[in-house]
Amino acid sequence: MKILIIGSGGRENAITYAVKKSKIENEIYCAPGNGGTETYAVNVPIKQDDVKGLLDFALKNKIDLTVVGPEIPLSLGIVDEFTAAGLKIFGPDKKAALLESSKKFSKDFLKKYNIKTAGYKSFDDLIEAENYVKNNSHPLVIKASGLAAGKGVFISKDVEESKTILKSIFIDKIFGKSGETVVIEDYLEGFELSYMIVTDGISYKPLITSMDYKKIGEGDAGENTGGMGAVTPNPYVSENLVNKINKNIIEPTLEGLQKEGIKYKGILYAGLMIKGDDIYVLEFNVRFGDPETQAVLIRLESDIIKLFLSVINENLKNYKLIFDDNKSICLVLASGGYPKDYKTGYEIIFDKSLHDTGLIDKNGVEYYIFHAGTKKTAEKYLTDGGRVLNVCAKGKGKDIIHAVYDIAENIVFKDKYYRKDIGKILN
Ligand code: AMP
Ligand code: GLY
Repeated sequence: MKILIIGSGGRENAITYAVKKSKIENEIYCAPGNGGTETYAVNVPIKQDDVKGLLDFALKNKIDLTVVGPEIPLSLGIVDEFTAAGLKIFGPDKKAALLESSKKFSKDFLKKYNIKTAGYKSFDDLIEAENYVKNNSHPLVIKASGLAAGKGVFISKDVEESKTILKSIFIDKIFGKSGETVVIEDYLEGFELSYMIVTDGISYKPLITSMDYKKIGEGDAGENTGGMGAVTPNPYVSENLVNKINKNIIEPTLEGLQKEGIKYKGILYAGLMIKGDDIYVLEFNVRFGDPETQAVLIRLESDIIKLFLSVINENLKNYKLIFDDNKSICLVLASGGYPKDYKTGYEIIFDKSLHDTGLIDKNGVEYYIFHAGTKKTAEKYLTDGGRVLNVCAKGKGKDIIHAVYDIAENIVFKDKYYRKDIGKILN
């Protein structure tokens, strides 16, 4: 089977790895891929937002199955285009992707279907937004409605700060078109959790729970990032909570989508805030989370190609989604400076044998190295992004933490940075 995976992060490297493990014989292409996907796939230099280029490639090369990693091609309607051309593709269509690509759409949807979310109002106009922040108590949360690579959310402590943020969005246009509409939300306090399910538009199955470390610094200090690490299972999530999330959030969301005439196929990722007995939706993502997916997929036992096909063919209910009973961890090695400015192009020096993922070390810990922002040139790997490598491991106990930190210490590149507290809560 010829498979095309779209994207270039650690998530796509993990998907590539899971596909390679499938019992269905396959030949993988990654567009554009990274230094790590080259181990299993042929990298094709087509950008993730070049929907036409990707479609031409898929048609010309008779691709049997395409899997979309990131949100941008989904929001551009890649699934609609591929499906119209008779190609099989995993991911939600353009209308369904609005749940992530328009925060206004997603908030209006939640309100319409009585699914708990922070109180909010949307604005297309600076003056009206300024009046609103003047008349409402702070903190407030100000969000660009469109896609902003995780950088479009501000927590503002007072009116002055809110005005500065609004000016930067409406006048300086720091998010371009993504900031033409702004959503202003009430600030919620509680504990945050990400929850992923897979659905074919008819039934759904939850993935194992995971926890994402969003902030750049230890103890969750400093700036928000795409994610500096992840663990599974999420130690704060009981079975009881999972049942409540399914009943109060996932099921009403899927029913609401059906009522809107939206057939949602793919991964639905809910960013949730738990406050006492209440569960609020902070946001939806319409794709696998990164780096949660790396920690999740190394525990997947059932066949991922069959999973993708069962979703596309609307037959998910007959697919047995099986994960092993390990714990897992993913540690992100980043370029110093990330999530702000950082330099790239530094050589990465590491034991090449580590590069073949799925190795078992002497304590029974299986570890994996996935590439994110890397590039392969002749015989060298170079840093090529903010998040550079993902060191992952699975096993029964705390050994997995020692394993990833041992490996992380022995990987050398200039400006290497990683959090020292990922997975400390696992026991
Ligand atoms: P989002 O992309 O909407 O999930 O927002 C990014 C991050 O901002 C979340 O993970 C939260 O930490 C924070 N956040 C978003 N909305 C709220 C809210 N209404 N109250 C408190 N924190 C929020
Ligand atoms: N780790 C959060 C995300 O993928 O958006």
